[in-house]
Amino acid sequence: MKNMIVYIVIIILIIASIIIAFSKTKEKESDKRLEVLNHIDEKISFFNYKYVDRYVAYHLKNQNISIKDAIIRVNIGLDYDYYQNTKIATNLYTTEVLVNKYHYLEENYIPKNLTELYEGYSKPGMYLVEEASLAYKKMAEAMKTEGLNIRVISSYRSYDYQKRLYEKYKKIDGTRGADQYSARPGFSEHQTGLVIDVDNEILPYEQFEKTKEFTWMKQNAYQYGFILRYPKGKELITGYTYESWHYRYVGKEIAAYIQKHNITFDEYCAMKID
Ligand code: DAL
Ligand code: ZN
Repeated sequence: MKNMIVYIVIIILIIASIIIAFSKTKEKESDKRLEVLNHIDEKISFFNYKYVDRYVAYHLKNQNISIKDAIIRVNIGLDYDYYQNTKIATNLYTTEVLVNKYHYLEENYIPKNLTELYEGYSKPGMYLVEEASLAYKKMAEAMKTEGLNIRVISSYRSYDYQKRLYEKYKKIDGTRGADQYSARPGFSEHQTGLVIDVDNEILPYEQFEKTKEFTWMKQNAYQYGFILRYPKGKELITGYTYESWHYRYVGKEIAAYIQKHNITFDEYCAMKID
């Protein structure tokens, strides 16, 4: 009987120590994650304490990416579905305004200093904010000296114009389909007056990637302050399919940074938040 009691006590002790060891490992894992997060703000300036729970949850779901990338993506808003948790865009009326599936412009937002583009490099009736328009002219002229031809086929679009476009696409492809390639009204960068869609007047704009003009822009557009806004391979970040023809003016400094680091404007802004 005495032996039996000793035997049972030993078994209980073994089970208890297994449970304790297991929970210690789990604790260690979560301590490790917290430890990284607790000190990450010392290295990552865009770490925001307000979002710490969202960072942890996002990284738990996406363990294949680094904690730094998880922070960037949460800062963009990507832990919410597109068009959820939306906010009004900041830096309005500047070349740094961010418009994407989480940041919108109000119906009455019209950029200041809209200037009609020179017809030699554009379809008639195309407008851009003056600074972007001057930069575009310089870029188009530089291309011309190398025998390349670029033409703007779409630029500033009003809220109402975008609404009509999006409704048209929705009728053709449904909401899910249209959302892949067309912005909802208020969420289009075209409303900033800082965006151009281009072709080379020979191939349809959807085939701009096949042109020499595209190759040139890929290498040089940043020197004039323009970036390819919806690159290949970044669809999850931008929320749009690749658009080889859509360029955004952000100014020379930001464009150079984005080019050098091979990131999107969304990622750049997510690393700049206060
Ligand atoms: N095609 C781009 C995403 C727009 O509709 O603004
Ligand atoms: Zn466009």
